[in-house]
Amino acid sequence: MVDSVKQLLKAAQEAIAASTDARELDAARVQYLGKKGEITALLKSLGGMEPEERRDFGQAVNRAKSEVIDMVNARRAEIETEQMAVRLAEERVDVTLPGRGQARGGVHPITRAMQRIIEIFGHLGFEVATGPEVEDDYYNFESLNFPAHHPARAMHDTFYFGDGRLLRTHTSPVQIREMQKQGAPIRIIAPGKVYRSDYDQTHSPMFHQVEGLLVGEQVTMADLKGVLQTFVNAFFEADLDMRFRPSYFPFTEPSAEVDIAWHKDDGSDPGWLEILGCGMVHPNVLKACEVDSEQYIGYAFGMGVERLAMLRYGVTDLRQFFDNDLQFLRQFR
Ligand code: PHE
Repeated sequence: MVDSVKQLLKAAQEAIAASTDARELDAARVQYLGKKGEITALLKSLGGMEPEERRDFGQAVNRAKSEVIDMVNARRAEIETEQMAVRLAEERVDVTLPGRGQARGGVHPITRAMQRIIEIFGHLGFEVATGPEVEDDYYNFESLNFPAHHPARAMHDTFYFGDGRLLRTHTSPVQIREMQKQGAPIRIIAPGKVYRSDYDQTHSPMFHQVEGLLVGEQVTMADLKGVLQTFVNAFFEADLDMRFRPSYFPFTEPSAEVDIAWHKDDGSDPGWLEILGCGMVHPNVLKACEVDSEQYIGYAFGMGVERLAMLRYGVTDLRQFFDNDLQFLRQFR
């Protein structure tokens, strides 16, 4: 009889050792210790035994029972440890890896230059106005006093949509739109994108301009020059020589191009660099906006933002601003 208990114990031990997870272990436990388990059955059979036999056998079965309980508990602890080891291996974190970090963006140098221009003119009382990038012939040319077959139109290398619409070639149409809206007097700057079919070291098909327009009574070209000199000195944080060179734009008369004396880093002779176009608003432009050209007079200017940014930051190829090369852009942070 006691031998059969030993055999049972051995079988239980094997079943428990063979269990690989909590569910299998519990099945083994139920098989031996459950209500209908094999050890439970032996305990039940004690009732029908002779007292002599019952004592020895009872002791053996009870010992076996507590051994099986101990084995189950020990195996449970082992399984938990094994599973924990597996999880730890799976969820291992290599703390020596470099962190992913949080990339910090920066404002694009063109945006920065534009914000700077807006701020400087803001201090001079100019308010920001904007207009659409898709324009038509009237706003881009005709209202700005470009005669119908005048070569000045050809100078702009315009992108046409073929349905009368075009991509504005300059921000000057905003002069018209704002004067039609506000009338005179007016004092605005209009920053924005403009488009011309042009591509080389100093040209990109999309670039940025800031237009300026001031119309009032008794406005002179000397006012224009003073405002531009103030702007140039503030923008470059230097006392720069500036000159007006006679030029032609259909929408200003007289017209000028503005050069600044640029000192190269290597100390070589300053060259004159063109930075913007300007002039006194042509009476025909005022008329197109129903502004009385007898009472009002004004000046306008338009500057290329990339050109100014190139000078300020020492960039030699304008196209770099639009390559999205992070190594280039990070220099400006
Ligand atoms: N619109 C001109 C250009 O793009 C610049 C300009 C603006 C000139 C205003 C005079 C007055 O070249």
